[in-house]
Amino acid sequence: MKEVKNVDYGLEKIFEGAQDFLPLLGTDYVEFYVGNAKQSAHFYKTAFGFQSYAYAGLETGLKDRVSYVLKQDKIRLVLTTALNSKSEVGEHVKKHGDGVKIVALWVEDARKSYEETIKRGAKSYMEPVVEKDKDGEVVRAGIYTYGETVHMFVERKNYNGDFLPGFKKWESDYNPSSVGLKYIDHMVGNVGWGEMNTWVKWYEDVMGFVNFLSFDDKQIHTEYSALMSKVMSNGNGRIKFPINEPAEGKKRSQIEEYLDFYEGSGVQHIAVATNDIIGTITEMRKRGIEFLSTPPDEYYKSVPIRLEEHNHKLIEDIEVLKGLGIMIDADEEGYLLQIFTKPVEDRPTLFFEIIQRMGARGFGAGNFKALFESIEREQQKRGTL
Ligand code: FE2
Repeated sequence: MKEVKNVDYGLEKIFEGAQDFLPLLGTDYVEFYVGNAKQSAHFYKTAFGFQSYAYAGLETGLKDRVSYVLKQDKIRLVLTTALNSKSEVGEHVKKHGDGVKIVALWVEDARKSYEETIKRGAKSYMEPVVEKDKDGEVVRAGIYTYGETVHMFVERKNYNGDFLPGFKKWESDYNPSSVGLKYIDHMVGNVGWGEMNTWVKWYEDVMGFVNFLSFDDKQIHTEYSALMSKVMSNGNGRIKFPINEPAEGKKRSQIEEYLDFYEGSGVQHIAVATNDIIGTITEMRKRGIEFLSTPPDEYYKSVPIRLEEHNHKLIEDIEVLKGLGIMIDADEEGYLLQIFTKPVEDRPTLFFEIIQRMGARGFGAGNFKALFESIEREQQKRGTL
């Protein structure tokens, strides 16, 4: 297994000479299966600043499901709900609660992406399907990753429409403004005990990804709990999927809590990038989004020291960051600002991270301890620590 520990981000070098059999152009969309898509859509518009974009349902000829598509800059969210009890959408929600079903990847050639990954051991979710309307055609094909989560390959080079054939434009009179979210920075999966390396190998073998950062339980732990994490990236570095696994600790870790409530492996958090985290978080707080508690004073006292160690100067006012609960981490290349929401549904499962990168390409390892202690305070309240 090719593994580079904590130091080298030189993905170009890792891939030098290698043929990328699965070139990925970016994240195409993320589809959630939810209990009530109409209400979820309202929530993501109001609180997260997404805009109405496309719709498919009874009015467009669908019989068993409804999907609302929301957009903010490069991010497309699809919220899908079942219209009857026989739907696989409903079954998914019954077992997992609201959660991410599909992480769709934009590709040049969906058929080839499907064939190459199936050949390398992927389990099929959907064979290549060509969907057409007056704006052209889209080819889609899907494979399963961890749990019941799916990677859908989307080829849209022969399509001029907004989203996908079968969807109509969604025009709404209710249009809250954007909060400045730009694109998906990374998406993290939680997998079961002892399964992290299985999925690391799966991403290497089936998807041609590399493991470019690893954190073991000695690096990621609090007094009570621990976890392990490995970051997988595709060849051009556009797609990053860290994978977490619980580790033994004195008490129940947040990963175990997730696995218990999601009833299996699944997407733990979606990190979205902004160019102005202060503006974004000020606005999201105003709109009712709850974030994990602000780290203690000692944390903010140590920030200047951590930045100085790497010769970086903080542009933002640290008191403003502290007031909003935004955390700071630094590495050789720069620093990053990040904050985490509380779970966005009643089961303590999926949450969001908002991140602003100021040169750093890491994931906030220096914040793990403060972050996990904050999560543990929430677990304590839920009685699940
Ligand atoms: Fe993250």
